[in-house]
Amino acid sequence: MSSTIELRNVPERIAITMDGNGRWAELRGRPRLAGHRAGSHTVRRIVRACRRLGVRELTLYAFSEQNWGRPHGEVEGLMALLEEYLLQERDEILQNGVRLRGIGSLDRLPAHVRGALEAVTEASQDHQGMTLTLALSYGGREEIVQAARTLAARCAEGSLAPEAVDERALEALLPSMQCGAPDLMIRTGGELRISNFMLWGSAYSELFFSDILWPDFQVEHLYLAIAAFQRRQRRFGLVPPQQTTAPCPTLLSGS
Ligand code: FPP
Repeated sequence: MSSTIELRNVPERIAITMDGNGRWAELRGRPRLAGHRAGSHTVRRIVRACRRLGVRELTLYAFSEQNWGRPHGEVEGLMALLEEYLLQERDEILQNGVRLRGIGSLDRLPAHVRGALEAVTEASQDHQGMTLTLALSYGGREEIVQAARTLAARCAEGSLAPEAVDERALEALLPSMQCGAPDLMIRTGGELRISNFMLWGSAYSELFFSDILWPDFQVEHLYLAIAAFQRRQRRFGLVPPQQTTAPCPTLLSGS
């Protein structure tokens, strides 16, 4: 495996669906939670790598609204892992200028997770480095419905004219869009779907699907995804640019 990326053209915003923890564990005859624990180690190395690369926004799909339907023990174990991650990474997050935030139905999280999340969010709120967003109890459809409901209420009370409901008005109410749309969306684990992640923001994201199960996802795999992104031509529905930018010297290699 080898990849070369141009540091000048690293995507500013990356979003990752961290899939494959359960299968990783099953392949080893271990409980699913062992896969999630191994997955939390991957979170650490990929967050560090993105910070080093100068990524501005990293959004991780850590727990979907639909994941509440998993067996109680798995949900409880995942919540414990999330709390552990927030407590253990707090210092590193703060020392590295990272800003942490959560998006999703955060009020559904158990108090111990919410408390840990709020503490790091508050302590890091003025940081100017990378923003690390954890999507927790998150659903793209749910988020859009919530925004539509707010707009409908404003129209009903007369503070907003129906004609003023446009993309900008709706987008302004989407927490996942507070930091802009992802340039690159990565999904590990071999499945080729979006699974309700950042539905609005992904409209023009470049998608990269990896067969690697999340616990096995290494920094080199991230470089492969970024290298693929750098070979794409983004057009946003327009025609190709007539002139391409000059090639940049190779600055970073992973092998
Ligand atoms: C999907 O894999 C993954 C999840 C539902 C949870 C992701 C959680 C982590 C990576 C660890 C904790 C997170 C943080 C931020 C520390 P799956 O269980 O659906 O895997 P499968 O498709 O192989 O069953």
